[in-house]
Amino acid sequence: MGHYMSQNYPPKSRWSVDQIPDLVGQVIIVTGSNTGIGKHTVEELLKHNAKVYMAVRSQEKAELAIKELKAKTGKEAIFLKLNLSDLASVKSSVEEFLKKETQLHILFNNAGVAVTPKDMFTAQGYDLQFGTNTLGHYFLTVLLLPTLISTAETTPDHKVRIVHTSSFSHHFCPRMKFDSFRDGPARTKMSGMQLYGQSKAGNILFSNELASRYSDQGIVSISLHPGSIRSELLRHGPTLLTRLMNWALFYPVELGALTQLYAATAPECTEFNGKYLSPWARYVPTEPNQYIRDPVATKELWEYMEEQVEDFQ
Ligand SMILES: *[C@@H]1O[C@H](CO)[C@@H](O)[C@H](O)[C@H]1NC(C)=O
Repeated sequence: MGHYMSQNYPPKSRWSVDQIPDLVGQVIIVTGSNTGIGKHTVEELLKHNAKVYMAVRSQEKAELAIKELKAKTGKEAIFLKLNLSDLASVKSSVEEFLKKETQLHILFNNAGVAVTPKDMFTAQGYDLQFGTNTLGHYFLTVLLLPTLISTAETTPDHKVRIVHTSSFSHHFCPRMKFDSFRDGPARTKMSGMQLYGQSKAGNILFSNELASRYSDQGIVSISLHPGSIRSELLRHGPTLLTRLMNWALFYPVELGALTQLYAATAPECTEFNGKYLSPWARYVPTEPNQYIRDPVATKELWEYMEEQVEDFQ
């Protein structure tokens, strides 16, 4: 219970967005950023002079958000079409980005779908939550790695950052069930919340493996729980109650963006490579759970995902 309270009703933050350094000259991608904590993340990055790509599915929604943020900050984010539930779209999105940019300083793997109807699958037939939240972000990151690594050579501290928005819900997943990533009896037995938790556990495992494989090439990879945030994440909420909870209990999006902005921009966070941060902007060594910290599990998931994207490289 204490653990639940510490994660979901955390103490007041000691770090604030006023401490974000000037980001002029930095190129940043934020996935799923036309709404919620992604949009607020973009707002803060723009205020601190970064060049920000809003990588989202809908051009129409992106343009509305870009307009709104321009009115607030005077700066304009750039739309990048990305549909994480289709590996072919991920590939063309990266090609599009690389036509415009040669550098990438920060990648926010922020997008997420939660507790989606169970009959929904990705274009390649994966469970929608695993396929979008975990596998889609894996492929996006791997395709951007050469650019991230070459950018690291040019930065003052020879580092770039990849930040993965996971969730406390990873505790709903005692271990990854590889046979539930596609349709079948193993998946049918799991609840939407367990499948969501599994996709969020996948974010942490992937982040940790990235850190262990690429830290010597300047990659800093950090995962985190943003806090229990009021957002569109529960828009597919299974019951009226979840939808009501979403509005009644949870913290506002400004706070939800705080921990990932901290991970991505605070100078001291380069020490948290392969670590998981808790709200608000804290490192709690007992998080995430032990299975998720197991290097065998991280390697297993990486190798599985590597195989899945082979045909799209
Ligand atoms: C994203 O891809 C999924 C899976 O193919 C598809 O059902 C959906 O319509 C696509 N969304 C957009 C906005 O392109």
